[in-house]
Amino acid sequence: PKPKEITVNGSTYATDGWTNISSSILPLTDRKLHLDANHPIGILRSLVEKRFSGLGYTFYNEFQPVVTTHENFDVLGFPKDHPGRSKSDTYYVNETHLLRTHTSAHELECFTQCPTPGYFISADVYRRDEIDRTHYPAFHQMEGARVWSRTEHGAGLESKLEADIQAIPKTDIIVEDPSYNAVTNPKQDFMTDREAELVGTHLKRTLELLVNEVFNEAKESARLAGSQEPYLNEPLKVRWVEAYFPWTAPSWEIEVWWKGEWLECCGCGVVREQVLTNSGLQDTIGWAFGVGLDRIAMILFGIPDIRLFWTLDERFKLQFSEGKITTFKPYSKYPGTTRDVSFWLPLAAPEAPLHENDLMEIVRNTAGDLVESVKLVDEFVHPKTGRVSQCYRVNYQSMDRSLTNEEINVYQEMVRSELAEAFQVELR
Ligand code: PHE
Repeated sequence: PKPKEITVNGSTYATDGWTNISSSILPLTDRKLHLDANHPIGILRSLVEKRFSGLGYTFYNEFQPVVTTHENFDVLGFPKDHPGRSKSDTYYVNETHLLRTHTSAHELECFTQCPTPGYFISADVYRRDEIDRTHYPAFHQMEGARVWSRTEHGAGLESKLEADIQAIPKTDIIVEDPSYNAVTNPKQDFMTDREAELVGTHLKRTLELLVNEVFNEAKESARLAGSQEPYLNEPLKVRWVEAYFPWTAPSWEIEVWWKGEWLECCGCGVVREQVLTNSGLQDTIGWAFGVGLDRIAMILFGIPDIRLFWTLDERFKLQFSEGKITTFKPYSKYPGTTRDVSFWLPLAAPEAPLHENDLMEIVRNTAGDLVESVKLVDEFVHPKTGRVSQCYRVNYQSMDRSLTNEEINVYQEMVRSELAEAFQVELR
């Protein structure tokens, strides 16, 4: 039975039919990896903050992960039937509160209270997801935003924007920016074409500066470590791609050319009027962006598995220190062992068909970070009975030690009985 209350970061909430935060997720909310100056996530964060300090931004790093559904979705204009709102994608504390699925959940709060023209916020965010080397239900985002008040600048708004663009430190990054398409990526009516263009330019130059800082630092570190790979001598190249987010218009994504491929880096756009007015900012225009830190950290620090960020093994932690993008040296490689679990789905599906994320969650709750991945490897319909059979393959692998067969068998048995109970499947 579900407990009546749930405590997250010291606050207690009443549970209800929406509650789906599992016991394996709760402890992650106390880790605060982005605050650890010697952890790859914290190193990336402080690198960016250092670059932007003195340029008019406030840095927020202490916001707790429980936010309201209103802050995470409603105020940002997510449609009522947006898949991100579903219980299979999001961890709900209860009907009105959830673990933020992105740092944009703090736009309302930050726009309301920020004393400077702009802010950066870094935080842990949560999404129910599949399990594999690059997906983990907790990860980190850094979000930035900047606003200009029309009442404050009056007729001088455009020249203020132009001056602020000039004030952004220049980079020698190569930029591919296709001409603006007002049909596929429309601007909002409450600003002039010129204002929209200037806000967009300020946003783009800012993100180019951010990307330049982080990726050039990675190159510099690689050179210092003696690497002579050809990409180190190429100038950094980025491209701007149209995007869509419910709370920005127009919207873009910046991609970086890195070791032979385009790397999606960061979504961004001109903030919708509604978000600003809801935060008490009348007659104001501005931009926002959000960047996922984990995937970039994996690539720049050479970290092969996202679970390593969460390990408590000193051999991981001791390899990194503030201000340096060093390459991870695997301290050992322990073999993985797979086990299959097959079952018949109930003929009349219970209340809802088995959602893959629910299955992942059960496996993760049972065997924790020893699960490297879970994959659906077979599915067929019985020709006579019409029942569906599924087979999932679980790879058990530890980052820190080798697992015994006996130990894995115990976990696998627990996984089987948990699945049978949770989904009324008939094990095969
Ligand atoms: N929150 C978005 C995401 O998680 C990124 C974003 C932030 C986009 C701010 C636009 C503005 O993908």
